Amino acid sequence: MIVFESRLFRVLSLLAVFVVLIAVALQFLENSESVDVSSMDLKASEETFREKNKSCFILGASGETGKVLLEEIVGRKLFSRITLIGRRQLTFEDKEYENVAQEVVDFEKLDDYAAAFQGHDVGYCCLGTTKAKAGTEGFIRVDHDYVLKSAELAKAGGCSHFNLESSKGADKNSSFLYLKVKGQVEADIEQLGFERYSVYRPAVLLVDREESRPAEWMARKFLGAFSSAFPTAMSIPIRSVARAMLANTVIQGDKKAEILENKAIYDLGKMGDN
Ligand SMILES: NC(=O)c1ccc[n+]([C@@H]2O[C@H](COP(=O)([O-])OP(=O)(O)OC[C@H]3O[C@@H](n4cnc5c(N)ncnc54)[C@H](OP(=O)(O)O)[C@@H]3O)[C@@H](O)[C@H]2O)c1
Ligand SMILES: *[C@@H]1O[C@H](CO)[C@@H](O)[C@H](O)[C@H]1NC(C)=O
Ligand SMILES: *[C@@H]1O[C@H](CO)[C@@H](O)[C@H](O)[C@H]1NC(C)=O
Repeated sequence: MIVFESRLFRVLSLLAVFVVLIAVALQFLENSESVDVSSMDLKASEETFREKNKSCFILGASGETGKVLLEEIVGRKLFSRITLIGRRQLTFEDKEYENVAQEVVDFEKLDDYAAAFQGHDVGYCCLGTTKAKAGTEGFIRVDHDYVLKSAELAKAGGCSHFNLESSKGADKNSSFLYLKVKGQVEADIEQLGFERYSVYRPAVLLVDREESRPAEWMARKFLGAFSSAFPTAMSIPIRSVARAMLANTVIQGDKKAEILENKAIYDLGKMGDN
């Protein structure tokens, strides 16, 4: 009995040490820079922005982030005109979506669809695939080529603020294909010289994905549990990303090009929680 208890005690202390170590590691992972704007300011900024009757387009509105972004845009009535640009027509049941325009394009011949990119003030790009879904070539084609071409057409079409959903760790010098491609497209779009260019680098997106695999689901649940203790260490709820993109849109930024890391996205997104 005593032997058993002391062994249990040892196991428990080891476990405690382990948890503390993880906590320290996660704290370290948390990015300390933060964004300092109050919710009051945001409400006022939204109102001012709304009065400008601006238009926007969304690329990837059928995806996990794009879907929530569209929902938030429609709900907050931030734009007078919303256009979805995608490879297929989407259907919406909600009456609120009635005035959302759609342009179905062939991303392989995007130049033929330049008109679809014309006359939008703000652009949001939530396009993306994975190497697992599309292969290496396919991944580069979508996450770099389609995204860059869209940005070029948007710039030519008069877009003044381009918003790109990239990824934590994006780095054109990385030896990991995913991070390299993300970093490369970020840099290539910066060269286009938008009046304003915002890059968002979220960590793992928390969502119950429809096509989810059990392992991924487990990982997400695990991250979800940790993320309540350490909200920005390695994951972020999708709605925070969408809200951050919009809060950042309505707040008059003074930077021509900016990169929002996961912690900044989290802080901005929390501000839009109402
Ligand atoms: N998932 C994460 O944990 C995570 C973390 C950090 C950053 N990111 C990045 O964030 C972005 C959005 O991620 P998400 O998970 O919200 O995306 P998602 O749910 O996978 O949606 C991707 C979007 O891209 C479109 N798309 C994919 N392949 C296409 C193709 N060949 N031609 C035309 N359109 C295509 C999809 O359209 P269809 O509906 O027609 O397929 C969909 O609208 C991506 O760039 C991703 O790399 C993701
Ligand atoms: C925006 O639209 C409203 C209603 O159509 C109009 O009254 C207002 O003048 C417009 N504002 C600008 C800045 O165009
Ligand atoms: C990538 O490498 C180039 C050339 O070696 C260097 O100038 C640049 O600063 C690097 N960029 C990043 C993001 O590390």
